[in-house]
Amino acid sequence: MRIIHVALASREGMTHVLETGFEILDEDNPNGSPRVKGYNIINGELCLSSDNASFESRNPAWLEDCLGEFPQSTREDVHSALEAAGQAFKSWSKTPAPTRGQIIGNMGRLLMEHKDDIVRVETREIGKTIKESAGSVQEAIDTCLFFQSEGRRLYGQTVNSELPNKELFTYRRPLGVCGIINACNFPAAVPFWKMIPAIMCGNTCVWKSPQDSPLLSFMLTRIMHEAGLPDGVINLVHGRGSGAGQYLVDAVDEGLVNKISFTGSTPVGKMIGEVCGRNLVSCSLELGGKNPLVVMPSANIDNAVEGAYWAAFGTAGQRCTSLGNLIIHEEIFDEFMSKFMAKVESTQIGDSLRFDDVLYGPMLSERYAEDFLRDLKICESDGATKLWGEGKITNDNKPTNFLGDASEGVYMWPHVYSDVTEEMKCFHEEIFGPVVTVVKADDFDHAVHLANASPYGLSSACYTNDRLEAYRFKTEIKAGMTGINNSTTGAEAHLPFGGVKGSGNGTRESGIWVIEAYSYWHAVNDELSGKLQLAQMDVDEVHIEEAQADYSSLA
Ligand code: UN1
Repeated sequence: MRIIHVALASREGMTHVLETGFEILDEDNPNGSPRVKGYNIINGELCLSSDNASFESRNPAWLEDCLGEFPQSTREDVHSALEAAGQAFKSWSKTPAPTRGQIIGNMGRLLMEHKDDIVRVETREIGKTIKESAGSVQEAIDTCLFFQSEGRRLYGQTVNSELPNKELFTYRRPLGVCGIINACNFPAAVPFWKMIPAIMCGNTCVWKSPQDSPLLSFMLTRIMHEAGLPDGVINLVHGRGSGAGQYLVDAVDEGLVNKISFTGSTPVGKMIGEVCGRNLVSCSLELGGKNPLVVMPSANIDNAVEGAYWAAFGTAGQRCTSLGNLIIHEEIFDEFMSKFMAKVESTQIGDSLRFDDVLYGPMLSERYAEDFLRDLKICESDGATKLWGEGKITNDNKPTNFLGDASEGVYMWPHVYSDVTEEMKCFHEEIFGPVVTVVKADDFDHAVHLANASPYGLSSACYTNDRLEAYRFKTEIKAGMTGINNSTTGAEAHLPFGGVKGSGNGTRESGIWVIEAYSYWHAVNDELSGKLQLAQMDVDEVHIEEAQADYSSLA
């Protein structure tokens, strides 16, 4: 077996990522955890920003806990990363696909080995519960395990020619340098959904880490290098969406990027789509959602309550797939709502690193908290009826089952707004956080109409035990994903993930279909006849020769 040797020699003044551990700045955090110095990783080397600017990453459950400082990358830094990715593409695209798969398999094994630590860092950095962080890290592992053996397939086809002594083939070819930009809510799963198939196909990447999860991104990139990833294949740059993220998108206009894969808001996705469109550069866009969940009278109501509650408030409502509009048939409205509200009112909220059994923790960061409080005002100004929720949790204003000292972090009440109609703005706008808007449906047709009435089409769900309703919901809903008797969340690593309408441009993440998004088909013909044979024109024509037989005489 040929082993790929990773260059350990460092350039003057630069340290290779495999040559050093973590640089601890101090251990003064209130929880005793260290504050580290984070770096960009460009061509395998640890780099600061060209103007030395940096930003901090803070634990949203305990804001005094600072995880580290990270480079605020400049346009020059992004260009260095693109240059490294462009150089590395030359040899990576020629590396046999099974070898690329082997490195991806190593990544999966390393993630398993370090899973518990990665999970705790994810919770420390963005406040998700330990259980949910473990889910996100597992999704990254599953992605590696799924794609490692794709290296032994990555099939093309042999195709028959219409001419003799001529062979036709199709090959999958890599696109080139991919710009990867993701949100921080699934900081392990989502970048792996993108980068693993990208590098499997032979592409190289510049990854702009989410502004609110730079430490986790730094850890993951280090682990990727430990797995045997050659320098320059994945280059990490930290910074703001409007900074490093924008510079990466601007580089599409400069001809330096062959693919952008973005998970984030619909307005930013549209801007990226425009830039990529005018340059004929491929882009994968996974955008917002206002995911509907319909409950019909034949449903198991307790199961539906459980699913709706999890979909609305798990991850503090900060998934792309979180429940937006809860659409309940009028016949079971009161029964459903009394059970649902009992759960909402008893929600356990707190820091999952310190308390067991919390449903959700803080907002992903202070920025997400501010945006949530701003967007919550839409429900108020629409005149929707507030059934529960008091904005930010403080020590003077907290739900019964809040655990800990609320002043330490950015925690939100769970919110429920009822009497919502499709005329209201809050019916159509994605509000990222713990809030659900409740709509009453007259009948099944009305429920399906409401489920399709928002501008988004990411996930959707219907609780019913009527097989025809289930079938009709599946076929009549316009969404990329649908759960029957299940919540709106919970995609698996081998199913296509993505949306339609305002939720994306039809590209998919995850599963085998994603290969289409990171490769193009190359059709090759090999003319063995030694002469010029023209397709369509030199092809044998076979004519119909009618026999002198009267078939009708036998009928
Ligand atoms: C996202 O919110 O961007 O299905 C990803 C789910 C998760 C992935 C969500 N497995 O909710």
